[in-house]
Amino acid sequence: MKHPVRSHPRWFTAVALASCLASTAFAQSQDSKPAKPGPEATAPSKKPDVIFVPTFPEAVEKMLELAKVKPGDVLYDLGCGDGRIVVAAAKRFGIRAIGVDIDPERVKESLENVKANKVEHLVTIKQADIFELDFSEASVVTMYLLPSLNVRLMPKLAALKPGTRIVSHDFDMRGAKPLQVAQIEGDEREVPIYLWIVPWEPE
Ligand SMILES: C[S@@+](CC[C@H](N)C(=O)[O-])C[C@H]1O[C@@H](n2cnc3c(N)ncnc32)[C@H](O)[C@@H]1O
Repeated sequence: MKHPVRSHPRWFTAVALASCLASTAFAQSQDSKPAKPGPEATAPSKKPDVIFVPTFPEAVEKMLELAKVKPGDVLYDLGCGDGRIVVAAAKRFGIRAIGVDIDPERVKESLENVKANKVEHLVTIKQADIFELDFSEASVVTMYLLPSLNVRLMPKLAALKPGTRIVSHDFDMRGAKPLQVAQIEGDEREVPIYLWIVPWEPE
């Protein structure tokens, strides 16, 4: 059976991600008041900066391979979606992994995924805005966001410990020269996976 994500043509995914960014920016410019605290502690304080599109399984494997994940690493997935990357990292390498998402639905799915895979002792799921997050303990960071969001994260990424590996599915980070770019077969095209190691070379 085809993976549901891979049934989306890649151009569709890129257009969907980009149009989501535009509409979110528009919505936020129309409503800049902070959200009132709701009845639920998990209510999002801000809309996601990008919609949920999961990384397909072969790309998850490639991201972990490119990052050379090893025992003792601490991996952060910034915008963890359904938690597939943190679960895979914990199961494959027995490492501590932290998934962070702003959307309470994604947090719920991630927690279910962690439980279903019995990696509660290794994986933590947090509901937070990645732009407000302290992830300085990371030795590996994974991202599937947007080029502009990667660039917004650069000050925090550049401040990580020397040797920290940063891997991005599909999107580059303008101004930072990748150490390696692997290609993985997607449905419609080859999809790049980028690797940087802190401190990266400027582009
Ligand atoms: C394209 S999905 C990637 C999901 C997962 N990392 C993967 O590769 O399968 C991006 C995720 O980022 C989350 N997100 C968007 N803006 C965010 C923010 N400011 N803080 C935390 N999460 C955010 C979305 O809710 C979504 O789940």
